[in-house]
Amino acid sequence: MEFKVKKTDFLKRKTAALVVGVFEDKLKGRLVRQLDEALGGLVQQALRAGEFRGEFQETLLLASGGRLPAQRVLLVGLGREADLDLDRLRKAAAVACAFLQQRRIVEMATDLVQVRVKGAARGDVAQALSEGLLQAAYRFDRYRTEKRDKLPPAMAQVCYLVAEGAEVAAVEAGVAQAQAVAAGVYLARDLVNEPGNVKSPRYLAQQAQDIAREAGFSCTVIDRAELEAQGFGALLGVAQGSVREPCLIVLEYAGGAKEDRPLALVGKGVVFDAGGISLKPAEKMDEMKMDMAGAAAVLGTFQAAARARLPINLVGVIPAVENLPSGNAMRPGDILTSLSGRTIEVLNTDAEGRLILADALTYVKRYNPRAVIDLATLTGACIIALGHHAAAVLGNDEELIARLLDAGRRSGEKLWQLPLWEEYAGQIKSDIADVKNIGGRPAGTITAAAFLQKFAEGLTWAHLDIAGTAWEEKGEAWVPKGASGFGVRLLMTFLRKESALK
Ligand code: BES
Ligand code: MN
Ligand code: ZN
Repeated sequence: MEFKVKKTDFLKRKTAALVVGVFEDKLKGRLVRQLDEALGGLVQQALRAGEFRGEFQETLLLASGGRLPAQRVLLVGLGREADLDLDRLRKAAAVACAFLQQRRIVEMATDLVQVRVKGAARGDVAQALSEGLLQAAYRFDRYRTEKRDKLPPAMAQVCYLVAEGAEVAAVEAGVAQAQAVAAGVYLARDLVNEPGNVKSPRYLAQQAQDIAREAGFSCTVIDRAELEAQGFGALLGVAQGSVREPCLIVLEYAGGAKEDRPLALVGKGVVFDAGGISLKPAEKMDEMKMDMAGAAAVLGTFQAAARARLPINLVGVIPAVENLPSGNAMRPGDILTSLSGRTIEVLNTDAEGRLILADALTYVKRYNPRAVIDLATLTGACIIALGHHAAAVLGNDEELIARLLDAGRRSGEKLWQLPLWEEYAGQIKSDIADVKNIGGRPAGTITAAAFLQKFAEGLTWAHLDIAGTAWEEKGEAWVPKGASGFGVRLLMTFLRKESALK
């Protein structure tokens, strides 16, 4: 998608589609009146007929019939002016983009960059808009060989119309940031959408290495022999049921000063989760190719952070395995010795994410990180608790959690905190080992986090359970059915502020 920024009056711009945002409580305002005059009363007519009310995400396409240089005008409802925030703006942009793409219109102009959003600078508005457009233009069509010309095309050219020449630079900067973030989101979505037969742990590692080289960070892959030598017993226990070799992918991005302690991101990388011997039911098992969405979010964030040249040091750790049943697989009742030395009684082989994360959290300690954030599609219970509109956040540092919650609010990738009171740890006490890997039905998301907390001892740590948000079931303008890329925008919003704080 190509972006241009021009200082032009919106009624004078030649374009296939002029996208105009309309507030529900400003239907009698100057903007609507101006547009109505230019279109010879078409807008008033539509309003009177009740075809359009300005409600959030509503659309109305008007042909200009030669009365404007623009061929068409697309009205997009923005809802009540007081309710407008960056997330609503992002979604409105996505709705407009999807609407036009559906009609094979791939060139547009808009003065939406001029809209005022409380607490947001011009660049933030441009960034949110561009993210919305880019998110709506995402496709995963590499496996379609038939009728490719029938697939809806992606928006190709966007022109932002600004009133003041002085605003051009800020808008351009916002666009550049959106492009870096969207590239990370696209990457994460692609990796998650990729089917299990293609994405082995090795494939993930190879992708990580390619992206690292191209974006400018380093990537080291620790293979099975080395994991055995170092004692990654929990990770290896999960991996042993699959013929595909596991690995640990380690990323390092040095954007900050040499002496700055890094921030660490850990992502669950189960390329396919059949459950192991505690086999999952067949229905929807295919969706468990998304069990590496945490890993994908970490990779996407590294790519975006490196492209945006964030002044911060980052470490990324991705334990990559496949969880399958086989004659070699671990059994319920097996006891594993983790990298930390703690023993784990595996009572359900389907609670594998916490096992590989335990070793990853232990491993990351050698970087002395100032904070660690893990992302994992960890529990079905999280979907029961929060559904698909927010990820759960838990951890051992209220301050870190507060900063993440704030990034969630600002990015629109929402988080909701669940408690991690010490009482919950009682549920994961084992009769014969240091800890067991399941805590029973009550508070499944919390007991999973309580398990991780043991291995995060001494770290400033937060855990994001993205089981409900990593995968889009229905499809929306801003995310087609399938991978959402959740976490990249959240973490980029978080990291941008972290790097500015120092
Ligand atoms: N990957 C799953 C969790 C999951 C479920 C993610 C649905 C996305 C959608 C995880 O490995 C798992 O199987 N968790 C078990 C834990 C249980 C055995 C304690 C679960 O949630 O059922
Ligand atoms: Mn599982
Ligand atoms: Zn899993």
